[in-house]
Amino acid sequence: MKKLRILFAITVLAVFLSNCTNKSDEYIDPRGTDYAGSESCIQCHQTQYDMALKSSHFRATAPALLGNVLGDFDKGNHTFIYDKNTKLAIEKRNDSLYQVLYKNGKEVEAHPFDIVFGAKHAQTSVYWRDGNTYELPISYYHSIKGWATSPGFPADKPYFDRMVVKDCYSCHASNASSRNVEQNSAEKNVMSMDVEDVIDPKTIVYGIDCERCHGPAKKHAEFHLKNPNVKVANSITSFKTLNKQQRLDACALCHGGNDGMKMKSRFDFKPGNNLSEFYRSTRSITDTATFDVHGNQFRLMAQSKCFINSEKMDCITCHNPHENASKNLASYSKICMSCHQSGIKHSDKTLKTMSGSLLASNCVECHMPKKSSGAIKFQLSDSKQLSNYILRTHKIGIYPAK
Ligand code: HEC
Ligand code: HEC
Ligand code: HEC
Ligand code: HEC
Ligand code: HEC
Ligand code: HEC
Ligand code: HEC
Repeated sequence: MKKLRILFAITVLAVFLSNCTNKSDEYIDPRGTDYAGSESCIQCHQTQYDMALKSSHFRATAPALLGNVLGDFDKGNHTFIYDKNTKLAIEKRNDSLYQVLYKNGKEVEAHPFDIVFGAKHAQTSVYWRDGNTYELPISYYHSIKGWATSPGFPADKPYFDRMVVKDCYSCHASNASSRNVEQNSAEKNVMSMDVEDVIDPKTIVYGIDCERCHGPAKKHAEFHLKNPNVKVANSITSFKTLNKQQRLDACALCHGGNDGMKMKSRFDFKPGNNLSEFYRSTRSITDTATFDVHGNQFRLMAQSKCFINSEKMDCITCHNPHENASKNLASYSKICMSCHQSGIKHSDKTLKTMSGSLLASNCVECHMPKKSSGAIKFQLSDSKQLSNYILRTHKIGIYPAK
C-alpha cells in the first residue's frame, strides 16, 4: 500500500514536472494569451493551413531572410544608377542583403534588408534605425522582373529617410506594438509634448495569419483538443453567422482604402466588429469618385451594378480567402454566370470580336479590365519616365473595347 502511494506520488510529480517543462516551451503570442498562433491550427485544419502558407496574405510581411527576398541574386542586374557618379547596388554580405550606396566608386552607406513587404506584384523592404523602420530606396517589381524606385521615391538621388510607420503594419502584419519614447532632452525642451513612437520588433507577428482574420482562437483550439468528438465549432466566430456588412468589413478593413479618419487601431478589429467604429471614410458608399485600383477593391466593387443590385455579393463570392486570386480567369466567368445565366445582350459588334465560347470564359477580361494605379508609380534606373503599376479593377462594368 505504502509502495503504491509512493509510486502515485512519483507519478504526480513526474506529470507536474513535465507540465512545467511544457509550459516553458509553450508558444507565447505577442497579442496576448487569447491567441494560439497559426502553427497550432495545423493539426486540425491542415487544408486551410497548406493553402494559406502559400498565400500572399501569409507573406504580406516577412523577415528578410534570403529566401523571402525577391530577385535572383545569382544572376541579373541588381544596381540602380542615379547619375554617373552615384549608384546603388544590392549586395549579399554573409547571410544578409544590403542596399549599398556608392559615390565615385566609394561606399558611402549601406543598409540591410530587415523586413520585406509584399510578394505578388512588387516587394519593398525596410531597415531598422533607432526603433523604427525605414523604406529602402529601390524595390522589386515583377512586371519588369527587376528593380526600380520604391513608390514615390526620387530617381535622381538616393533617399533613405522615409519612415514606414505602424499604419503600414496594420494592413500587412497581424501585430506590431509600439511604445512612446520621450525624445532626448535637447529636443524635449523645444516641444515638451513631443513623443516618438518606436516599434518593438519582438511584438511583430508577420503576415496576415489565421487569427488576424478569425480573431483569437486559443479557447477554440483548447476546447477541441479536450473534446475531439465535438464536430461543431466552439468559441470561434463563424463567417456564416455574420451579416453581409460584417463580412465585407472583415476584408474592407485592409482593402477599402486609407483616406479616412482612424478612430481605433486596425489591429483591434475582430470579425463581427463594425468597421465604422475603427475607421470613418470621408466618402459615402454611393460616392462615384474614381478610387484607386490599388488597395481599394471594396470601394470599386461597391460601385458595380452587380453589387448594388444583388443581395449576396461580397468578396468571398469570388475569392477563397485562404488562397491567392486564381490566375484562371475562366473560373471567374463561371461565377459571373451563376448570376448572369442567360439572356446577356451582347451587341453584334461585341460578338464579332470574340467567338461565343471564348466570350464565355473571358467575362473578366472585358468587364474588369486592368488599370494603372494613380497612387503607385515607379522609375527605372537611368530613366526619366514613370512606369505604371497595373491591377485589375473591381468596378465591374462596361468598358470601351481596347
Ligand atoms: C483540436 C482541433 C482544432 C484545433 C487545434 C483548431 N480547430 Fe478550428 N475547428 C475545429 C473543429 C472540430 C471545427 C468544426 C468543424 C469544421 O468546421 O472544420 C473547427 C472549425 C473552425 C472554423 C470554422 C468556424 C465556422 O463554423 O465557420 C474556424 C474559422 C476555425 N476552426 C479556426 C481555427 C483556427 C484559426 C485555429 C488555430 C488558432 C483552429 N481553428 C484550431 C477543431 C480545431
Ligand atoms: C489585415 C489586412 C487584410 C485583411 C483583413 C484582408 N486582406 Fe487581403 N490582402 C492584404 C494585403 C496586405 C494583401 C497583399 C499581400 C501581398 O501581396 O503581399 C492582400 C492580398 C489579397 C488578395 C490577393 C492575393 C493574391 O495573391 O492573389 C486577395 C484576393 C485578398 N487579399 C482578398 C481578401 C479577402 C477576401 C479578405 C476578407 C476575407 C481579405 N483579403 C482580408 C491585407 C488584408
Ligand atoms: C489600408 C491598408 C493598407 C495600408 C495602410 C498599406 N497597405 Fe500596402 N497593400 C494593401 C493591400 C490590400 C495590398 C494588395 C492589393 C492591392 O495592391 O490592391 C497592398 C500592396 C502592397 C505592396 C505590393 C504587394 C504585392 O505583393 O503586390 C507593397 C510593397 C505594399 N503594399 C507596401 C506598403 C507600405 C510600405 C505601406 C506603408 C507606407 C503600406 N503598404 C500601407 C493594403 C495596405
Ligand atoms: C484573409 C482572411 C483569412 C485568413 C488569413 C484565414 N482565413 Fe479562414 N476563413 C476566412 C473566411 C472569410 C472564411 C469563410 C469562408 C466561406 O464562408 O466561404 C474562412 C473559413 C475558414 C474555415 C471554415 C471552413 C472553410 O474552409 O471555409 C476554417 C476551418 C478556417 N477558415 C481556418 C483557417 C485557418 C486555420 C487559417 C490559417 C492557416 C485561416 N483560416 C486563415 C478568412 C481567412
Ligand atoms: C451575385 C450576383 C452577380 C455576380 C456574381 C455577378 N453579377 Fe454582374 N450583375 C448582377 C446584377 C444584379 C446586375 C444588375 C442587372 C440590372 O441592373 O439589370 C449586374 C450587372 C452587370 C453588368 C452591367 C453593368 C452596367 O454597368 O451596366 C455587367 C457588365 C456585369 N454585371 C458583368 C458581370 C461580370 C463580368 C461578372 C463576373 C466577374 C459578374 N457580373 C458577376 C449580379 C451579379
Ligand atoms: C465578381 C468577382 C469578384 C469579386 C466579388 C471580388 N473579386 Fe477580387 N478579383 C477578381 C478577379 C477576376 C481578380 C483578378 C485575378 C487575376 O487577374 O488573376 C481579382 C483580384 C483580386 C486581388 C488581387 C489584385 C491583383 O490584381 O492581383 C485582390 C487583392 C482582390 N481581388 C481583393 C478583393 C476584395 C477585397 C474583394 C471584396 C471587396 C474582392 N476582391 C471581390 C474577382 C472578384
Ligand atoms: C469582348 C468583350 C466582352 C466579353 C468577353 C464579355 N462581355 Fe459582356 N459586354 C461587353 C460589352 C462591350 C457590353 C455592352 C453591350 C455591347 O456593346 O455588347 C457588354 C454587356 C454586358 C452586360 C450588360 C448587358 C445586359 O445584358 O444586361 C452584361 C450583364 C454582360 N456583358 C455580362 C457578361 C458576362 C457574364 C460575360 C462572360 C460570360 C461577358 N459579359 C463577356 C463586352 C464583353
